[in-house]
Formats: sequence, C-alpha cells, structure tokens
Amino acid sequence: MNFELTALPVTDISSDIEVIIVVNNDTKHRFVQDKKLLKKAGFSAEQDETCLLPGQDRLYVGAGSLASTAIRTAAASAIKALKGTQYKSIKVATYTNKGCTYTLRAMIEGFILGAYSFETYKSKKSKNPVKHISVSLEEYSELSIDIEKASAVMHKAQIIADATNFTRDIVNTTPDDCYPEVMASIAEGMAEDTGLTCKVLKPKELRKEKMETLLAVARASRHKPRVIHLTHKPKGAKKVVTLVGKGLTYDSGGLSLKPADYMVTMKSDKSGGSAVMGIMKAIAEMNLPIEVHGFIGAVENMIGGDAYKPDDVLVAKNGKTIEIRNTDAEGRLVLADTLCYAQQEVKSDYLFDFATLTGACVVGVGHYTSGVMGNSEEVRSLVVKEAKNAGELATALDFNPYLKKTIKSEIADICNISNTRYGGAITAGQFLSEFIDEDHKDKWAHIDIAGPAFVEHAWGENPHGASGAGVRLMVKLIEKLAENEEK
Ligand code: BES
Ligand code: ZN
Ligand code: ZN
Repeated sequence: MNFELTALPVTDISSDIEVIIVVNNDTKHRFVQDKKLLKKAGFSAEQDETCLLPGQDRLYVGAGSLASTAIRTAAASAIKALKGTQYKSIKVATYTNKGCTYTLRAMIEGFILGAYSFETYKSKKSKNPVKHISVSLEEYSELSIDIEKASAVMHKAQIIADATNFTRDIVNTTPDDCYPEVMASIAEGMAEDTGLTCKVLKPKELRKEKMETLLAVARASRHKPRVIHLTHKPKGAKKVVTLVGKGLTYDSGGLSLKPADYMVTMKSDKSGGSAVMGIMKAIAEMNLPIEVHGFIGAVENMIGGDAYKPDDVLVAKNGKTIEIRNTDAEGRLVLADTLCYAQQEVKSDYLFDFATLTGACVVGVGHYTSGVMGNSEEVRSLVVKEAKNAGELATALDFNPYLKKTIKSEIADICNISNTRYGGAITAGQFLSEFIDEDHKDKWAHIDIAGPAFVEHAWGENPHGASGAGVRLMVKLIEKLAENEEK
C-alpha cells in the first residue's frame, strides 16, 4: 500500500473511491454529499459503522470524535469494508484534532493495520485490493496544514504500522515454521535491511555465558535455543534504551503439560520477542537519535526424556538459585538469564521487557490491556502514558511486599511459582525483579502483554490473532525520549 500527500482538494483527485469519515454523527458536514442516500441506507455514523455507495464511489465511516483512537479504528473499518471489492485506489481528506497531527498519524496507521490479514496458510488469498491512498491536505475543520509536517507524520505512521504488521506475521507463523533458529534468521535479515547490527548466541556461547536456566527450558526441544542481540547505535545518542523480549516459539508447558485447550495459541508465546524485533525495525527506519538494544530469548518449551523437571534447582546467570515447581512458568526463567545478559552487555537509562508472561494478567485486566510492573512509579507511568498516546491499552499493577513473600523457596533462593493462586501477574513481575541489578532497579519496567498480544477475534484496528502489541507503545515512548533530548 503506498501513500501520496497532495495539496489538491479531494474533489480534484482522481481515484477509484473516496472515503469520508463522519465525525460525531455530523451527517450535515460539508464532506457528506449523499445525505439522502445515507438516510435511505439507515446510516447513522456510529463509531466504525460503514456505508458503501457503489453508485457514487463513496464509502462513509463513522467516528465518535476526532481523537486518535476513534479515527484509527474508523480508518481500519473503512479499509476492511473494501475487502472483496475492486477498488484499488482511494482518496481521503485530512482529519486533525484542532490542527494536531496525531489524528493524521492515526488514520494512516488505521489503514495499514486494518488492511492486514495473515494468509500464509490459505490456498486462496483474499488480500486487500487497495494499493494506493491519496491524502488531500483539505482538512476536516478547514484548517491549513503544513505539507512538510504532514508528510513527515505520514512517513512515520507508515514505518510504525508496517513494523507492527511485521511483528504480527512472526507471531502468527506456526511453531513448525518459526522456531528459535528461524527467529534468529528473521532478525539477521531485518538487520541487514535496516542497518542494525545483529549478534546471535548459539548453545555453545550460551553455556559460556552461564545461561543455564534458559538452556534448561530449551533442553527437551529438537530446536536449539538462540539469544539475539540487535543494536541501533546512532552517532551522538544521549540516551540508551534496552529492550528484552520473551521469545517462546512454543510453550507446551513442559512436563507440567498444559491442558489441550490451553495449549492452542501458544505459538503466540514469542510475542514479546517478536515485538522487540518490530520495535527495532521501526527505530532503525526512523533513525531515532537514541541508542537502542533489543535482546530476544528464543526457546521452545517441550517435553521429553531430557526435559527439565519440577523439583530441579537451576542456577541463573547472576548466580541465584531457582527451585522449579512448575515447568510451565518458563518465561520468567528464559527472561531471567536474558535480562542478566542484557544488563551485562549494556548499561542503559531505561530497561523494558515484553512478555506473554501470565494467564493471570489476562484474568486481571482482560484481553485488550497490558500490565505494567516495576519498582519505579515514574517509569511505570511513562509506559502507561505513552501506550495511551500510541493507541494501546496498558495499566500499572503495583508490587507489594506481601506477594513478594509468596515466591520464597525453602530450598533455593527463590521459587519459580508463587504459593498462592492469586496475584500471578505481580508475583511473576516480582520474580523478574530478582534479576535486575542495582543499577537498573529504577530504570526497569516489565510489560506483560499476555492479553493483547494474541486475541482470537478482531478488535479495533487489530485482526484475529497477533496484534503486534508493544510495538506502537514502545516506538512512541522512544520518540518521546528523543524529543526530550532535543529540547
Ligand atoms: N505463556 C504462558 C502465559 C500465557 C497464558 C500467555 C495465556 C498467553 C495466554 C506462561 O508461560 C505460563 O504458562 N504461565 C503460567 C504460570 C503459572 C504456571 C504460574 C500461567 O499463567 O498459568
Ligand atoms: Zn508456560
Ligand atoms: Zn510461556
């Protein structure tokens, strides 16, 4: 899908169809030329409601307001409504919220994210027909918009939405087609395309680095683990950010085997690592003036004679001993070693990890929201705030010393599960905090994306399956850090 920005008014652009966003049920707006037809069709311009008028070659879609989230999902609904049609090119006006270009960015994101479908395994593909979108600078409230600014905003929006779709593709790929070695080669390919550097650690190096916990989780799989390190290092960068992602290419639960119903969709357990890849891609393409490191622990959790067991005690890279009582709480083990390795390699100003870590987080906050944890209120709030600005949902889950006691072990330094069935998202976060060193304690946030990363129905601008959760959130946050440096 390619975009073109033009100073021509919408009526002067030639295209197959025009998309009109009807904001706040305002069917009297000058953009609405088909008032009678729309009335006949029963169109009331509710959020995401669409009305295609093939005779006029116009598609109307409702948006509750000019807020980014409303415009993003409206644009996604519009593009979805064109699926199955023969419209190849569309034209659309610019919508801003009192001149603020966030809304323009949201519209472009909505088109690209909404057009996404994963059809690798379908014999008959039904790709979205729209190839070309002309955006007119003619603005909804008749404001004049700077063409250079608008063009820069559109360019960024495309990078971010494409990176989100890149993440979605990785997550949606089946475990038989995407295992740790494949994750590493995707990272290498992407790094070559974007100018990132990429280092891949294989089992021999992982042993040398004493990442025995990660290796134990990987042991029963025929697919050997990888730790991937991607680097974006622009000249003169003033801040350093480290990202760590859980990349379980499949989570069967291990010997603490998941029940059949719970195992389905566990190809999505690589969503954190896949998000880190998408974020790195976007950061490189935008060439943001921040040094960013992405680490991915890519492992498959399987069963077999060689599997690690409940009752084992593992030694993490930082020397802490971990009593294993459930092999399905494997993500925190992989992250423990990957976090230790990341902190050894890079001293950063911010450290974020992304993981589909707990079912408890989904129970607690629902399918659409990420849980944000960590020791620093400031860093937690920053993540929650930028998630909102980026069009993602995230909420803080506070640690407390009472839950901390529930992951004590009688025989080792810590236990990999809690002794209570409640508060599982927080106790998992508190487990991770044991592997954050003193220097990074107040710089770290853990983002549990178990809910939004993979949902088996379409929601907002997201399709069935992988959403690319975390990508827009973190790119926005890093953009914010870059802006602060410029000030
Ligand atoms: N990958 C799962 C968490 C998960 C569950 C992600 C549902 C997405 C949707 C994780 O490895 C896991 O199995 N966690 C256990 C932890 C428990 C054994 C303490 C869980 O949540 O049940
Ligand atoms: Zn698990
Ligand atoms: Zn898992």
